[in-house]
Amino acid sequence: MGRAKKAVLAYSGGVDTSVCIPYLMKEWGVEEVITFAADLGQGDELEPIRRKALDSGASQSIVGDLIEPFIREFAFPAIRANALYEGRYPLSTALARPLIARRLVEIAREVGADAVAHGCTGKGNDQVRFDVAIGALAPELKVLAPAREWGMSREQTIAYGEACGIPAPVSKTSPFSIDLNLLGRSIEAGPLEDPDVEPPEEIYALTVGVDAAPDVPQVVEIGFEQGYPVSLDGQRLDPVSLIRRANELAGRHGFGRLDMIENRVVGIKSREIYETPGLLLLIRAHQELESLTLAADVLRSKRQLEQQWADLVYQGLWFGPLKDAIDGFIERTQVSVNGSVRVRLHKGNATVVGRRSSSDSLYVDAMATYDSGDQFDHRAAEGFIYVWGLPTRLWAARHRQG
Ligand code: ARG
Repeated sequence: MGRAKKAVLAYSGGVDTSVCIPYLMKEWGVEEVITFAADLGQGDELEPIRRKALDSGASQSIVGDLIEPFIREFAFPAIRANALYEGRYPLSTALARPLIARRLVEIAREVGADAVAHGCTGKGNDQVRFDVAIGALAPELKVLAPAREWGMSREQTIAYGEACGIPAPVSKTSPFSIDLNLLGRSIEAGPLEDPDVEPPEEIYALTVGVDAAPDVPQVVEIGFEQGYPVSLDGQRLDPVSLIRRANELAGRHGFGRLDMIENRVVGIKSREIYETPGLLLLIRAHQELESLTLAADVLRSKRQLEQQWADLVYQGLWFGPLKDAIDGFIERTQVSVNGSVRVRLHKGNATVVGRRSSSDSLYVDAMATYDSGDQFDHRAAEGFIYVWGLPTRLWAARHRQG
């Protein structure tokens, strides 16, 4: 594969990605490392991170605000797809990876780099997401993943960094590994590695515990246009503000925590805690509006494709052909997903209490009602049931004779 001269490194400011800088240069002969740190709404101060990259030996340290594209191009499609990996995890971490990869590739082209690099280990999902995305977007670029090959323990990594002038983390480092962005937080490792250990309350930052949630419930009305959330309680909000507000509302009522054992792409079962209050709230409301506005067969097919969509995104295939094709289906279905859903937030629960769509509801009173306005032809049901049940009656008759 030959040596890389100039690499653009996905940078977080943590120990691993910082050590990647001298490691790439000293061990792998990379002449120049340019770092890129993405602002995804995680709330970190980015100036110290920018400087730390330079102090660790980067020739250039770039910080970029990706919040808006993150929400518009990644989170909102995930809401339309009701994307829940293994039925539960709304992909808050996974959705950020193809965006970061896309930006790394753009920067590599701008600065004339011949490689991109990341600090992912060989056990996780993120390496898969980065590598596949970069391979799809820029096959000419090498992908360097030093942490996949260096075989250093945490202590050895810190020691290697110190020998290169990278200060060890000052505060006693948290035992947890946390990934965060505007969609939520993913927390793993440390005591959580025992799947039978209850997560301690202090790991949470976006949601309160049920005990601390208000006694008084709050109903929020979420408005949708073409499957995209556009308003909260009648107030129109841009996508980023809407996610922020949804996080606050749901988090305040203790909704949005998950504790799950999930199946990683590389075959490992792992235990992860998530808090993704806004995203889970919006997906729940969106599902509900679809129940009102999508035809039964479309809805059923979509529910199956949604699972596949979530698998594809989790498994790093954002830029692949099946994801693209399913997106076409979803796009077509969302034309009629207009209306609003009311959800009651209370003590860790988000309960749908109402839904309406003046333009697209397929709920027809005259069909549904048991009152005098009923227009359903009850007698037609008899012939329908004769035909519908015919195969079952024939089969059962055959097996009854025994
Ligand atoms: N398991 C999740 C995923 O693959 C999140 C991983 C986030 N990393 C962390 N350090 N908690 O999308």
